[in-house]
Amino acid sequence: MKNIVLIGFMGTGKTSTGKTLASRLGFSFLDLDEAIETAAGMTIPQIFEQFGENGFRAREREAVLKAAERRNTVIATGGGVVKNAANMDALRAHGVVVCLTADVDTILSRTATRGERPVLDGRDAGDRRAAIEALMKERAALYKGADYTVDTSDWSPLLVVDDIVKFLRGRGLLHE
Ligand code: S3P
Repeated sequence: MKNIVLIGFMGTGKTSTGKTLASRLGFSFLDLDEAIETAAGMTIPQIFEQFGENGFRAREREAVLKAAERRNTVIATGGGVVKNAANMDALRAHGVVVCLTADVDTILSRTATRGERPVLDGRDAGDRRAAIEALMKERAALYKGADYTVDTSDWSPLLVVDDIVKFLRGRGLLHE
């Protein structure tokens, strides 16, 4: 079985959806951000502080290559994984890519806490909504490459998962 790769902007619910989807399908679950933190022995904000965004992206790239070797795994990625086309090529080689989206208000409320998302904190000069909107615009084209897209703004993880499962079945991607 292929992997199921969840991409999408920060705060679109990749981790919670991924966990629910994996248990529903009997797949393993891998959170890339968590794998990066474990490998580095540091939190993501600490990695950004010490090594900068480039240092984080290099670690992200290594974690992607490892994750892409797996099978039967739901892989929740970090929102910026799409910035490197080679990341997506590796994940796509044995994976179907599902993009989660959400409206700006939802993302704003899910990512309001400072100190957790260095990319947003760094661009937020007092107007977090403006920072989110600008970054969403910058990345919009990159998230368009998914095989399927689900808006999670008004949906619980269970409903989102139902929708993804329906898509996978329709494509004949589940051996049930
Ligand atoms: C990032 C998103 C984060 C994490 C890192 C960078 C980004 O993951 O990988 O802070 O550039 O969008 P989440 O999307 O899980 O918050």
